[in-house]
Amino acid sequence: MQVIILPTPNDVAQYAANSVVDVVTENTNSILGLATGSTPIALYDELVSRCRAGLLSFKNTKTFNLDEYIGISECHEQSYRAFMNRHLFNLVDINSANTYVPLADSLDPEVLARNAKAYESEIERSGGIDLQILGIGVNGHIGFNEPTSSFASRTRIKTLSKSTVEANKRFFTKGEFQPHLAITMGIGTILESRAILLMATGKGKAQAVKDMIEGPLTSMCPASVLQQHKKSIVILDEEAASLLSLKEYYLWCEEKRQQLHEGNLL
Ligand code: PGA
Repeated sequence: MQVIILPTPNDVAQYAANSVVDVVTENTNSILGLATGSTPIALYDELVSRCRAGLLSFKNTKTFNLDEYIGISECHEQSYRAFMNRHLFNLVDINSANTYVPLADSLDPEVLARNAKAYESEIERSGGIDLQILGIGVNGHIGFNEPTSSFASRTRIKTLSKSTVEANKRFFTKGEFQPHLAITMGIGTILESRAILLMATGKGKAQAVKDMIEGPLTSMCPASVLQQHKKSIVILDEEAASLLSLKEYYLWCEEKRQQLHEGNLL
């Protein structure tokens, strides 16, 4: 696991944007895994600016989002399809037919289960995800894989934890129906991505970040599974990194990595 600690959330977004640009320009047919939530918004803003400046094109890129709420329509402004349209898809040159978000607008469990299975097949048919962007929940979830989710899980219907429902309350108006079910990529699905980039910012994430990087491998902190991925990069701001015991070591590693990159081995 590569741990990168940067001064501010904006630095985190810039670093993540550079990584996305590298993947998309190296292979114009690349497959991206995308996340919603407040953390990646700054990344999407940056990608939109670079695309508008002609520095980047998503013309042949395919994207798969991690998850979607069950119980609200795609047109609801809090659906993750609407989120992605608003923050990225409608603002760049991507072909909307190449943007996938789990289809969760049915209330029939059989249809939802079928949609989840079809999502897995579509990822597989596309050749798998080159770079998966992740955030982390305060309870250590990735996607909507809540604590105790199996590390072998695939795209499926998942019940949200009370803490996740609470954390997302701010996006719904008082008295409005708030989803407590979702279709989410599984942890097994996420782990098949060729590279994973997890972004975390702010003090509120510091404990989850510590559990993910320095805690035991446990389904109580689903993100800890990234310790087992061959190419996982965690990008943190100072606040999210504030509880890490080996913080100085991670900073030192990055310094050395930079020197190696410049051919300065000693
Ligand atoms: P956030 O959510 O970026 O809004 O904090 C992250 C997550 O729950 O995965």
